[in-house]
Amino acid sequence: MEPKVNILMVDDQPGKLLTYEAILGELGENLIKASSGREALDFLLKMDIAVVLMDVSMPELDGFQLADMIRQHPRFQKIAIIFISAVHLTDFDRLQGYQRGAMDYISVPVIPELLRAKVSLFAELHRQARELELLNRELEQRVLKRTEELRESEKQLRQRADLLDLATEAIMVRDLDGVLQFWNSGAEAFYGWSRREVLGRNVHQILRTKLPSSAEEIESVIVKGGRWEGNLVQLTRNGREVVVASRQVLQSDGGGVRAAILEINRDITAQLQAEEALRKAEKLAAMGRVAGIIAHEINNPLEAIRNAFYLLQHHPSLDDNARVYTRIADEELTRVAHITRQTLSFYRESKEAVPVSISEILDDILSLQARLLQRNGIVLEKAYRSDGPVVGFPGELKQVFLNLIGNAIQAMPEGGRLRIRVSEAIEKRHRRDGIRVVICDTGSGIRPEDAKQLFEPFFTTKSTKGTGLGLWISKGIVQKYHGMIQFRSLRFIRGHITAFSVFIPKSASPQVSGSRLLSGASVTQ
Ligand SMILES: Nc1ncnc2c1ncn2[C@@H]1O[C@H](COP(=O)(O)OP(=O)(O)OP(=O)(O)O)[C@@H](O)[C@H]1O
Ligand SMILES: [Mg+2]
Repeated sequence: MEPKVNILMVDDQPGKLLTYEAILGELGENLIKASSGREALDFLLKMDIAVVLMDVSMPELDGFQLADMIRQHPRFQKIAIIFISAVHLTDFDRLQGYQRGAMDYISVPVIPELLRAKVSLFAELHRQARELELLNRELEQRVLKRTEELRESEKQLRQRADLLDLATEAIMVRDLDGVLQFWNSGAEAFYGWSRREVLGRNVHQILRTKLPSSAEEIESVIVKGGRWEGNLVQLTRNGREVVVASRQVLQSDGGGVRAAILEINRDITAQLQAEEALRKAEKLAAMGRVAGIIAHEINNPLEAIRNAFYLLQHHPSLDDNARVYTRIADEELTRVAHITRQTLSFYRESKEAVPVSISEILDDILSLQARLLQRNGIVLEKAYRSDGPVVGFPGELKQVFLNLIGNAIQAMPEGGRLRIRVSEAIEKRHRRDGIRVVICDTGSGIRPEDAKQLFEPFFTTKSTKGTGLGLWISKGIVQKYHGMIQFRSLRFIRGHITAFSVFIPKSASPQVSGSRLLSGASVTQ
């Protein structure tokens, strides 16, 4: 049912009002009667009037004056007014009426159908205008609400983006083809690529991602289960290889048409390295303990056997042949004794650390090796720029340099140059003061494929002549001093240059005990 509109009838004669009421009654609208202009104004102010039906000539306020007053009010400027006039209206009067915005005229005698038709037309117009207004208002309200919602969601999005930027993890949003749509500050800092540089580009190409399984497999897991977790190997902008723990979650916008993947990556490179180092250290420590125990067990009977052999070798009952055999056996026994001593000294508990001069230790070793150097035609060059005072255990430090100098000499059977340099140094990573000793030879060099295993126990290229424990033990000792041992071997047209460098911090407080390999020292190879 259509809402009723109000029709205001104004006339000073109640009889006429009744006539209009009778004529318009069948329209089914609300009919309001006013007997004067003032009363009519009262109604107009109080209610929403669709049509005003008024007599042109009323005693206190004539129709035109009333229409003027009505039109002055902004709310009533468009109100429909039908004038009823008993006198003949000249064209001038009509014009005057229209200028005031009047809509229509009816002359007396009123023809009921005509009046009804005109009133109902205006009533309808008014109703439609009201409906339109209502719709407009509703629309406006909806627009306002939607704008407010949009503003709110934009605010939330911005807050979320701010939060994502606060995260230290690398967070990105990309489509299923890997094209990046979002890249947070964490990703910028970690990978070294700015947002501007990567948005719209393929993430896997930029980061050269190595996936743990095929891309299709991972994608099907994400599409089916909505998420995937695993480790990725990627390259940062400056070429550093990193391992990240990656969590990838499928984000679909309802229909899944514009599906995107939210990817959160956490750097676990250092953690993996630390775990690997710990595993290695534990392995070495365990081996060290076992080796120490075995060496200890072997050492006592070995001493007895060597003494017995010494006596046997000089026994008058032996002929020349037998003497050769005992000599060979004795030489081999000496080698066994050397191995057990090496192993034992590494494991043995030490006493108090004392100030040690590295240059003195080196000179001790070199004087022991002087004859060998001469015999092999090795030229020795010493450059001691520091006495190299550190706090430590002389026996251990001697063992480190004896191993390194021994290796250098053994690498130059045909002669060469042995250069030994001692200098004060600052280790860059932790900015620690210390002593650096570099032992450099022009010997056989180190093959790249051997380089990785050099510090492993029992790795040797000297077949039966080497035990392969020298560098392993040296590394363990240096580690105990929180120092570093590194090497580099370069190949030239005329041969190789190999340099072993040992850094011992001055503030080193070497730990005592067999678990020394578990110390958190940084040893690079
Ligand atoms: N200065 C060097 N030049 C060339 N190769 C070297 C040098 N120093 C070490 N190496 C290589 O590293 C290997 C391991 O050295 P390491 O001192 O641990 O054992 P080794 O010398 O073979 O035996 P030993 O236990 O008797 O010292 C050597 O066999 C050799 O191949
Ligand atoms: Mg050696």
